[in-house]
Amino acid sequence: MSDTIAVFNPSTEEQIAEVPHADQATVDAAVARARETFESGVWRRLPAAHRAEVLFRAAEIIKRRTEELAEIEARDNGMNAIAAQQIIKVANEMLIYYAGWVGKIHGESANLVSDGLLGHFEEYHTFTQLEPVGVVGLIIPWNGPFFIAMLKVAPALAAGCSAVLKPAEETPLSALKLEEIFREAGLPDGVLNVITGHGETTGAALTAHPDVDKIAFTGSTEVGRLIVKASAGNLKRLTLELGGKSPLIMFDDANLDKAIMGAGMGLLAGSGQNCSCTSRIYVQRKIYHQVVEGLAAFAQMLPMGGYEDPTSVLGPLISEKQRTRVHDIVTEGVARGAEVITGGKPLDRRGYFYEATIIANTTPDMRLIKEEIFGPVGSVIPFDDEEEAIAAANDTHYGLAGAIWTENLSRAHRVANALRGGQIWVNSALAADPSMPICGHKQSGWGGERGKKGLEAYFNTKSVYIGLT
Ligand code: NAI
Ligand code: MG
Repeated sequence: MSDTIAVFNPSTEEQIAEVPHADQATVDAAVARARETFESGVWRRLPAAHRAEVLFRAAEIIKRRTEELAEIEARDNGMNAIAAQQIIKVANEMLIYYAGWVGKIHGESANLVSDGLLGHFEEYHTFTQLEPVGVVGLIIPWNGPFFIAMLKVAPALAAGCSAVLKPAEETPLSALKLEEIFREAGLPDGVLNVITGHGETTGAALTAHPDVDKIAFTGSTEVGRLIVKASAGNLKRLTLELGGKSPLIMFDDANLDKAIMGAGMGLLAGSGQNCSCTSRIYVQRKIYHQVVEGLAAFAQMLPMGGYEDPTSVLGPLISEKQRTRVHDIVTEGVARGAEVITGGKPLDRRGYFYEATIIANTTPDMRLIKEEIFGPVGSVIPFDDEEEAIAAANDTHYGLAGAIWTENLSRAHRVANALRGGQIWVNSALAADPSMPICGHKQSGWGGERGKKGLEAYFNTKSVYIGLT
């Protein structure tokens, strides 16, 4: 494999950069730098107020450099300028949220309840301590790279860990800026190390590394499984966010204008390259045809283009490989009887564009219904009653997210209880807040990100007993 990686703009297919492909020695050196800073305590043992100050300062720098970072992100990933600015903004909100936690998370003291093994009462003072887990490897995908990087970097640094971050080979550019930004903000050298490289080489070396204590990963289920195996050597802690095949259930009492728009956005944001994308759309029979038409109209209305097209809403897919995969899934469904209502093919222009696609007449065994597509392709499926809709929605090995559209309050709660997923929306699409954890159920992952839970994932707990007698 070559020692550099060419980086392309997916909306023009032009090469925009070249980055190094980190080999084993480079991975070893990055892990060693992280280890040295962790053991020396230059970061983890700084007073909390100083650490928080560094993170807040980084947020100031990011805010000041939003335009520049957004342009890098847009050209690297293909998203339009507004989406890219939004990505930088929400990433920064994540950083500010976790900067605010520094010094506010701590152990607790307990009232003792037992005589203990010695059979006579001994008095202790006891307390728990939260200690940063150590050197963490952060492996991220190409959809929303700056944001997903921050989802891991911010809590890792807030906890006092030292980190090695490996962005996706398709979109390494904004992560490289992160190292520079945190250095300018005063983070000691070697605490955050960014390395670029392919997954099966650089990523695999990081996940198997005996001196890495934890891996936090977002990406495919297939690679998630490889990481579980690779981490067995030193039993690394793992946080895995492995995507989904999320259902949306629309009842016939829903506010239809809002519901159709919400379903359209839930499906098409990021051109469907979104782990929480609601690509199985279950619609109660009475409103089925109206919703299919409404979704098709919504899909047709969105102008496609990249950063270069100021009016664009829907960007390209990340690569020709991903576009081919998406089209194969559609073609296979159509060959078995699925009906394309709108879209269903690559766009005839430069860039890896794929038409926003609405499909009917699917069966549960089609890849369209079973697999995470990661493209702008949704299937609309009729149902008669609530029970049937819940059973169909839960008929998947994923459990990341789900959406419900209804004006009936009790039904909203009932269905939210019944859906197996880590994040449920009622009458809303894609809401996500730094303070609210998302924890994949079933094969959508292990552990959680965001919120206090997301920070706790970067700590070990220690119980201390101080004998008083
Ligand atoms: P991927 O899972 O291969 O890549 C994600 C990250 O993992 C990248 O940084 C990659 O370099 C790294 N990686 C790959 N193989 C590795 C290994 N053996 N050890 C350690 N790290 C490794 O995802 P890919 O191939 O780019 O996309 C394939 C499918 O995965 C998509 O169609 C989509 O369905 C799913 N996916 C889901 C994401 C999510 O947010 N849940 C994000 C990206 C992809
Ligand atoms: Mg892959």
